[in-house]
Amino acid sequence: MAKAQKNFVCSNCGAVTTKWSGRCDGCGEWNTIAEEKPLSQAGPASKTLGGLRGKEIPLSTLSTQEAPPPRTASGLGEFDRVLGGGLVEASAILVGGDPGIGKSTLLLQAAARFADSGLKVVYISGEEAPAQVRMRARRLGLSEASVKLGAETNLRDILTTLEKEEPDLVIIDSIQTMWADNVESAPGSVSQVRAAAHELTTFAKTRGVSVILVGHVTKEGQLAGPRVVEHMVDTVLYFEGERGHQFRLLRAVKNRFGPAHEIGVFEMTGDGLSEVTNPSALFLSERDEPAPGSVVFAGIEGTRPVLVEFQALVAPSPHSQARRTVVGWDGSRLAMILAVLESRCGIPFAGLDVYLNVAGGMKVSEPAADLAVAAALLSAREDAALPKDCVVFGELSLSGALRPVGQAENRLKEARKLGFSSAIAPAQTKAGLASGMELRQMRDLVGFVGDIFGAG
Ligand code: TYD
Ligand code: MG
Repeated sequence: MAKAQKNFVCSNCGAVTTKWSGRCDGCGEWNTIAEEKPLSQAGPASKTLGGLRGKEIPLSTLSTQEAPPPRTASGLGEFDRVLGGGLVEASAILVGGDPGIGKSTLLLQAAARFADSGLKVVYISGEEAPAQVRMRARRLGLSEASVKLGAETNLRDILTTLEKEEPDLVIIDSIQTMWADNVESAPGSVSQVRAAAHELTTFAKTRGVSVILVGHVTKEGQLAGPRVVEHMVDTVLYFEGERGHQFRLLRAVKNRFGPAHEIGVFEMTGDGLSEVTNPSALFLSERDEPAPGSVVFAGIEGTRPVLVEFQALVAPSPHSQARRTVVGWDGSRLAMILAVLESRCGIPFAGLDVYLNVAGGMKVSEPAADLAVAAALLSAREDAALPKDCVVFGELSLSGALRPVGQAENRLKEARKLGFSSAIAPAQTKAGLASGMELRQMRDLVGFVGDIFGAG
């Protein structure tokens, strides 16, 4: 007789293994693997569907004309932007983020705005008592909003209520607290979270209701993270921000109804999240005199240009192994740029500690920031500031050559709008007639070093 197979599931990425291990091979996280009951005793492969015929389904052609899906804008502009222009009917949205980052605050504010735009909104809290949610609503000045509030974790009861209420939008805060009584695992386990997300998204599709699921990013093995349900929903948004900074970014990681990588920018204030319509001004607000090591990068986030400041510090290292510390940018990309500076330009960083930071708690992932990072490192090392009115962008290849990047004109326009008058960019960058910026085009990093820092 076959022994019952044990199942181990990673709570971060959902990878299934037959053995426990300290580190997940799938995503590399530590201590996220826990044992779980197999999802079904027999497994789908043991029964064939062949014997009994089902009913035929209608197939259509690709050329069928369809109206774009109806959308409702909340009026909370930054939220609508990230959704791709508003909430699509019958869509399922996941909003992930660290505990305490402001997910409940954001969604309560969004719920109130959607209710004002005429949607019937139900907010189910599995974490807080109604009194607590009401207290937050009062603090946000939303006590009068026509949002219906429920505090429940039993999925069957929630679905029964929703069937009767027939809302347009349901917010589930959070998916980790929901439990389906037909699944044996504990609430918060991967199977429970997946089952609950599946029930809710199916409900959304069949009833024409939009659902927003809140998911905490978790660090423990027993609780499933939002990544395990990413594939079930139409749109995945992450709410991010550095602790100690008031900025919050809502980032679209996946969106079936709009552009991915779009960001919405908010500021956490004493009475809730307020929209930041001009993020560049915010991220640069602490800048005054040009300082060595500080360089403004003209970046693109989603469809919108954003200027951010890179800050570098280079100092002799007291340790035998020099430090490389990065905040807001990719560590291996930094190592690459240091290597290019050393081997192509002959500028050594050995024995020097290197710190790189993106101001304002922003995270940058564009390769177009390579040249700005190189410039910040050089400027810090040479103790020479770049001109105050200058922005930098360009991708670096391992040969030291600079590659042109997309949307140069948008980057330049945004820089000019914020009072910058010159830009350092790769050769072949097309400024467009509109930009009106002085453009200094560089073919490679060696030329850049010679031109800007007068060394080579
Ligand atoms: P919350 O929305 O509860 O976070 P999450 O649902 O992601 O766990 O917000 C948590 C933090 O936000 C809390 O530390 C207090 C702060 N906050 C404000 O600064 N201003 C406000 O108006 C509100 C409602 C919360
Ligand atoms: Mg919350």
